[in-house]
Amino acid sequence: MSTPSMTLFHNPASPYVRKVMVLLHETGQLDRVALQASQLTPVNPDAALNQDNPLGKIPALRLADGNVLYDSRVILDYLDQQHVGNPLIPREGSARWRRLTLAALADGIMDASVLIRYELALRAPEKHWEQWLDGQRDKIRRALAVLEADAIAELASHFDVASISVACALGYLDFRHPDLQWRDAQPRLAAWYAEVIQRPSMLTTQPPA
Ligand code: BEZ
Repeated sequence: MSTPSMTLFHNPASPYVRKVMVLLHETGQLDRVALQASQLTPVNPDAALNQDNPLGKIPALRLADGNVLYDSRVILDYLDQQHVGNPLIPREGSARWRRLTLAALADGIMDASVLIRYELALRAPEKHWEQWLDGQRDKIRRALAVLEADAIAELASHFDVASISVACALGYLDFRHPDLQWRDAQPRLAAWYAEVIQRPSMLTTQPPA
């Protein structure tokens, strides 16, 4: 076991952090990274994190030389170039752009889901903007419908940046928005997810109960 040379600003509830943790598991790099707990919301920033990432967002990864990487996409790309196994982000060709586009779709589900979470958890109920909330929910539903219709075989083909990102997005929906009942309209996606959540990398990165 080596001494960690990098520090990851970490919160187990964040689906973006989870992507990084899953990739570290899958590529055998967990012991290279020390975790620095970061409790934050948009109205309760983390001063230490702001020093390293002016956007005040997690994950951020401080490298051994003091440079800091953000956001999660950049961190995944960096870490995927630091191991000797099969790349989890294709390095070139049409596969690269397709897999990154699926990952971006998953990130969009996370973005809308986290925004809904903040609106519901941080703003007084009488101030909730229902039309805006519905717009975010519609983004999630459209993205899930595309995954169900077009992407199941691709997701099932191997567990890489696309599959990790979609799995973490679905995990966050279960964690914060079970009311959306995403499985009802996406049975094939649900079957795929039931398999991938058995992976050790997914089991050990589950959000807190
Ligand atoms: C959450 O508690 O839902 C959360 C925490 C950190 C980042 C994103 C979401």
